[in-house]
Amino acid sequence: MNHDIKDRELADDGKRRIDWADRFMPVLRLIRQRFEQERPLEGVRLSACLHVTTETANLARVLKAGGAEVLLCASNPLSTQDDVAASLVVHDSIPIFAIKGEDTETYYQHIDEAVNFQPMVTMDDGADLVSRLHSEEANPSYVENVLAGTEETTTGVIRLKSMAAEGVLRYPIIAVNDAQTKHFFDNRYGTGQSTLDGIIRATNLLIAGTTVAVVGYGWCGRGFADRARGLGANVIVTEVDPLNALEAVMDGFRVLPMIQAAAEADLVVTLTGNIHVLRREHFETMKDGAIICNSGHFNVEINIPDLKDLSTEVRTTRELVEEYSLKDGRKLYLLGEGRLINLVAAEGHPASVMDMSFANQALSAEYVVKNHEQMDNCVYDVPEELDASIAKLKLQALGVAIDQLTEEQQTYLNSWTMGT
Ligand code: ADE
Repeated sequence: MNHDIKDRELADDGKRRIDWADRFMPVLRLIRQRFEQERPLEGVRLSACLHVTTETANLARVLKAGGAEVLLCASNPLSTQDDVAASLVVHDSIPIFAIKGEDTETYYQHIDEAVNFQPMVTMDDGADLVSRLHSEEANPSYVENVLAGTEETTTGVIRLKSMAAEGVLRYPIIAVNDAQTKHFFDNRYGTGQSTLDGIIRATNLLIAGTTVAVVGYGWCGRGFADRARGLGANVIVTEVDPLNALEAVMDGFRVLPMIQAAAEADLVVTLTGNIHVLRREHFETMKDGAIICNSGHFNVEINIPDLKDLSTEVRTTRELVEEYSLKDGRKLYLLGEGRLINLVAAEGHPASVMDMSFANQALSAEYVVKNHEQMDNCVYDVPEELDASIAKLKLQALGVAIDQLTEEQQTYLNSWTMGT
């Protein structure tokens, strides 16, 4: 079996950590049990381009249990957990192409392995795999043979919707990100906690009393702002969307333009999905010693070339912390090369939240295999009943009971919908 990983010797460490994550993924476990019986993905070649973590390993094992032939490559050069990659190769015979710290060329070589696997289904995190399959680098017949795909992130869904709008998307995709059991929890509580985890692991910073600028108040920004406040930070939010800004105000945060927030912040965190939200004019106003990092999908939110241009020297002061000495004597600290800090410096979202995200992935894969013939080349929501079933299963697993409508209440509600 072809693969490219750092070190097979790490496999047993990886297996122990994958099994630990599995303890917090009860919904995925139930799906695995059903998949083992029903084998809904029998004979399906599935290429997944995801962060290679303990949680992803559990998803890969579920897909394999469902009968799929799975190949996994990294969706980011720095997020791979090398012990997990080794375990999947050694203990589960799943071909993995991922090495933490791989250069850009290797990163794309690994994606090309996923392309050349000639997938029938793609599973993407950021849409790099879909994009490569549609590019001139790929054999044109490969994209024709894909039945359908799924996408994990906000950024990926935006990219794919724009491909669909231009009429260039060649197969249907389910936007897993947009499921309620995904973004309400993964983007908010997952990103909220894991971003702080990454920042703290990288810096050992005391958050209490720190002025933190949260750039972007989407689901990820909301989660992060809330958790930073919970640890005692003075949180400032910056936004371009009036509704999001208003929500931040009503949630009790100070909302300022980026240029003012940059001047006040000890720590600036970007979570927008957009390019160069932090750039020269902001670096010029920032305080000496300020820390900058990103938790959005791509490393484009911070304009690093601008920062380099303003600097006389760049040196690594501690692992994943680069000190930029500016010409005027100030020093700014960039974490994790501006890549998503929660996966670069920490382990990404906790398993309990990935349980729901990856349940959506597994069930969406099953859904597209069954239904691709009725689907057009556009981006679809996760079917509502599937989303709701994941919420129910998660509540059950957490031991939380809820009420049911009485017959009288149901009739009352029906009378409104029937217009009587
Ligand atoms: N994205 C964010 N956190 C993740 C995790 N733990 N595993 C895979 N993808 C992720």
